[in-house]
Amino acid sequence: MNKTVVIIGGSTGIGKALVEKAAKEGCHVVCFSRSLDLMDRSFSSYSNVHSYHLDLESVNKHEFVSALKNHVSIDILINNAGYLVNKPFHELTKNDLNKSYQINSAGIMEVTQYTLPYLNKASSHIVNISSMGGFQGSAKFAGLTAYSSSKAAICAFTEVFAEEYKNSSIKMNCLCLGAVQTAMLEKAFPGFKAEIQPEDMAAYIYDFANKQGRFLNGKIIPVSLTTP
Ligand SMILES: NC(=O)c1ccc[n+]([C@@H]2O[C@H](COP(=O)([O-])OP(=O)(O)OC[C@H]3O[C@@H](n4cnc5c(N)ncnc54)[C@H](OP(=O)(O)O)[C@@H]3O)[C@@H](O)[C@H]2O)c1
Repeated sequence: MNKTVVIIGGSTGIGKALVEKAAKEGCHVVCFSRSLDLMDRSFSSYSNVHSYHLDLESVNKHEFVSALKNHVSIDILINNAGYLVNKPFHELTKNDLNKSYQINSAGIMEVTQYTLPYLNKASSHIVNISSMGGFQGSAKFAGLTAYSSSKAAICAFTEVFAEEYKNSSIKMNCLCLGAVQTAMLEKAFPGFKAEIQPEDMAAYIYDFANKQGRFLNGKIIPVSLTTP
């Protein structure tokens, strides 16, 4: 496998496991997050992993594009980064809302837009990582207004993008994840033990990203064993 895979949010949890999975499969992996030192340390044994700083709260277009230019012909972009605030609705601040929407949706749209010129012209697949909380009709949980609604926005983005680019070689789909045992899950549901580990979900996402761009476009797919 010699595909080029870009992973947004590759430092911890599912993203870190995704970087490792793609690297072990022989992909050329380009990962971004705020924690450059952590990624450099975690992936130092992989010569095929390249880490760069990115803060979705204030995307530096020049810095991001300069990094991408080293890795043209991107086959897969996985928008995995996410931020969760767990607070009663009446306590949410403007900053909580802005930060959630910037990281979970607007920032993801920005980096997707900047990545377009560097995608493989023959065929590419963009996979957005949303949440069951953002999946229409799913069970909802108190305290997750900012998180779930900003994750729902990325679902709508997927559908509109797929329509706008339907005659191109770019496919986009969205996975709405259920509970996976990470620091974010502990923040959302303290004490809850998920059946799925980050490595299991990473293997699923990797396989999906690799194969399903040939068959699906603009789809919002629930990936969940339990609720939460
Ligand atoms: N775990 C679950 O049960 C679950 C369920 C549904 C959906 N999800 C989704 O799965 C994805 C991965 O979550 P996780 O559970 O693995 O959580 P996590 O361990 O907290 O990972 C979040 C990732 O997002 C990155 N990130 C956060 N803020 C960022 C910013 N401002 N700029 C750039 N990157 C940023 C983090 O990197 P830095 O902190 O280094 O920047 C980290 O790599 C998220 O989109 C989450 O919403 C998870």
